[in-house]
This record gives sequence, C-alpha cells and structure tokens, in this order.
Amino acid sequence: MSQGAQFADGVGAEDPRNAAVVLESRGLKKTYGSGEKIISVLTDANLLLRQGEMVAIVAPSGAGKSTLLHLLAALDTPTSGTVYFATKAIESIHDAALAEFRNRAIGFLWQRHQLLPDFTAAENVAMPLLVRGNDFTTALETARKWLAEVGLENRADHRTGELSGGEQQRVAIARALVTGPSVLLADEPTGDLDEQNAWAVFELLQRLHRTHKLTSLIATHNLALAARCDRILALEHGVLQTREAAASAGGVPGGEAS
Ligand SMILES: Nc1ncnc2c1ncn2[C@@H]1O[C@H](COP(=O)(O)OP(=O)(O)OP(=O)(O)O)[C@@H](O)[C@H]1O
Ligand SMILES: [Mg+2]
Repeated sequence: MSQGAQFADGVGAEDPRNAAVVLESRGLKKTYGSGEKIISVLTDANLLLRQGEMVAIVAPSGAGKSTLLHLLAALDTPTSGTVYFATKAIESIHDAALAEFRNRAIGFLWQRHQLLPDFTAAENVAMPLLVRGNDFTTALETARKWLAEVGLENRADHRTGELSGGEQQRVAIARALVTGPSVLLADEPTGDLDEQNAWAVFELLQRLHRTHKLTSLIATHNLALAARCDRILALEHGVLQTREAAASAGGVPGGEAS
C-alpha cells in the first residue's frame, strides 16, 4: 500500500476507487413521443464516473447510447432523474451558465462529426473558442496546436470536406478538446472507420485521455476497443449494467449495476 491515507474500505487515497466523482447520473429516464407512440429509451440509467477513468458503453443500435450521452452533456433534458457534474445537479445550473458548462466542462465528440466542410480544419477546431469569445487570431493559434497534437498540422489550412474520414475524426477530436474540458464524451468515435483507422483513432483518444488527464466515456459497437477501456458498461433495456472486469489495471467496480 502506498503512503496515502487509508480509507474505511482499506483502499489507499491514490486508488482509482477513491478518485473524485466527476459525472454521475441517478435514475435517468428518457421517453420520446406520447400516447401510443411513446418510446421508452432509458428507464433507470445510473452511472458514476470517477476522475481519470476511461469507460466504454456498449449496446446495439437503437439502445439509447446517443440519448444517454446527450443527457450527460446537458444537450437534452431527461424525462426524470438527474445528472450531476462534480456533484452539482446540472438542472440547477441556469441557462447562461449551462452554455458555459457545455462549452468548457465537457468535450463532445458527435456520432456524425458535424464539421463544417467549407471551413478549414483550423477554423473548425477554433469554433468553440470563438463561441467562447476568444479573438480570431488566438483561437486559430490554439486550434493549430491541437491539430498538431492529433497529427494534422499539415492539414490545418485544408477544408474539412477534402479530408479523409480518419482525418475528419481527428479534426473533430481536436475540436472537442480545444476548450480544455475535463470530461470527454465520445459517441461511436470509430463507427465510420475501417479497422486500421479505428485503432489509430482509439489509440489517439487513449493518449489524449492520459496526457490531458481526462475522464472519458466512449460509446462503441467495437468490443475489442471497449476491452481496452478501464471498464465496460452495457446499456440494456434502458439500464446500465457492468459488463465485465477491466482488461487494464485501475478499473473500478461499477456502481451502476441495478
Ligand atoms: N428525438 C427523437 N424522437 C423520437 N425518438 C427518438 C429521438 N431520438 C432518438 N429516438 C429513438 O430512441 C432510440 C434510441 O436512439 P439512440 O440514437 O439513442 O440510439 P443509439 O444506441 O445511439 O443507436 P446507434 O448505435 O444506431 O447510434 C431509438 O429507437 C430512436 O429511434
Ligand atoms: Mg447513437
């Protein structure tokens, strides 16, 4: 055991099981539509993400992965239940602060990357900084640094519509992280890529996760990639279940199984 403080459960302070809770959901429920057309997607989704974890969510198409990630990023509101960011209920954050929260606290990697094809890679990456109020020159400078970090410095001035799928996903990753968020939510980041590019993008995410001390939640169909995460959650019938033990060290037991 390390020099760290001993907790009641016999676990040291540096143990990942004692890391701060960064993102949490309790009793999340989401239904779409009404009457006979009502679709119940999430029924009781409970999630607890600790600082530094990289967690995969696996589920078949239509199970509600995107729905869940949108709720966690406050891009949509739950039918009932609560999302907590660093123990604060997101619903208690006022509108203006919520925009700030979306811009700064969470990096969101969309299922379809939603880059603007007629703008350059650097302009696309700079966009969240411009929304934040940074001046154009500073925003572009920061964007270029991020493009270098994802290995695309030589593509910074190319329109994203001219880039390959893998390159576009790298641009999207740079754009998701350019504001320096503490949490990365990635919605099938490798879904549209061939196997080789999928691994390259996943390894990039792993590296960025480590070097920027992120807490990452990745929705994926790819079980081989999911197995490289600290732990795997399966979204089944609207609830999250711990799927299997972590392949790597540092996994924490899922508090989510219900
Ligand atoms: N805005 C909406 N209005 C009505 N139904 C919706 C809406 N958004 C999602 N749904 C439905 O909710 C269910 C879950 O959708 P979601 O996109 O979250 O699934 P997913 O797990 O991300 O699927 P995929 O792997 O195909 O991306 C689907 O049945 C979908 O049709
Ligand atoms: Mg989806």
